[in-house]
Amino acid sequence: MTTGATTVVHESQDELAARTAARLAAALAEAQAARGTASVVLTGGRTGGAVLAALRDAATMSKLDWSTIDIYWGDERFLPRGDPERNETLARRELLDHVPVSPHRVHPMAPSDGEFGDDPDAAAEAYAVLLRDVPSFDVCLLGVGEEGHTASIFPHSPAVAETARAVVAVRDCPKPPPTRVSLTLPTIRNAERVWLMTAGAGKAEAVAAALAGAEEADLPAAGARGRQETLWLIDKAAAGEY
Ligand code: 6PG
Repeated sequence: MTTGATTVVHESQDELAARTAARLAAALAEAQAARGTASVVLTGGRTGGAVLAALRDAATMSKLDWSTIDIYWGDERFLPRGDPERNETLARRELLDHVPVSPHRVHPMAPSDGEFGDDPDAAAEAYAVLLRDVPSFDVCLLGVGEEGHTASIFPHSPAVAETARAVVAVRDCPKPPPTRVSLTLPTIRNAERVWLMTAGAGKAEAVAAALAGAEEADLPAAGARGRQETLWLIDKAAAGEY
């Protein structure tokens, strides 16, 4: 059930990416001014990648102190480190390799050839342990699938029903690759600001259903809400049926 969400409609995905990058830079700077540090949860997908690329360009103008920003992921494809399909690879290519982040503040989910080997449950549990020391996220960026998934939480899946664990392994994922690691909705809802970013006419039905109050089991993106802010950042095409 999406309650209290605000929708911002942009002319295009490019404008969505540029405006969201500027919005993110401001939100992170606000957190840094208040606390000295800031935290952001990154997402995969086309729109997520476009926002990171736009932030890279904006970062050359913004006064962000990258050294005190903690970087997390909302989900990850369970593949070997450096695999081009990993969301970590996307983030490093589009942003992190271009800004002076502190390596110890970049928290990728484990690869399938890392310390946990090919055990996604162990990788998920390790990330959950890491998050025990994270009281909240300042901003959680999320994409949205055509059937309403977000992160790697799909309709009527074990992940969407998970309320005890903070991070879970996802198998037989309808969107390839099949094995992933994902935050659960309760963990996403631990963020101060949750921003769902999506573009294209193919997402219009999911956007309309979420904003009309769909149940999270049927449409997991509808269950993604922030403590203080829930934004749907979409383009005109995705707003087509809204
Ligand atoms: C992933 C993403 C996933 C993505 C959506 C939207 O690992 O695939 O985390 O949740 O954000 O599928 O992807 P697009 O923006 O490319 O449609």
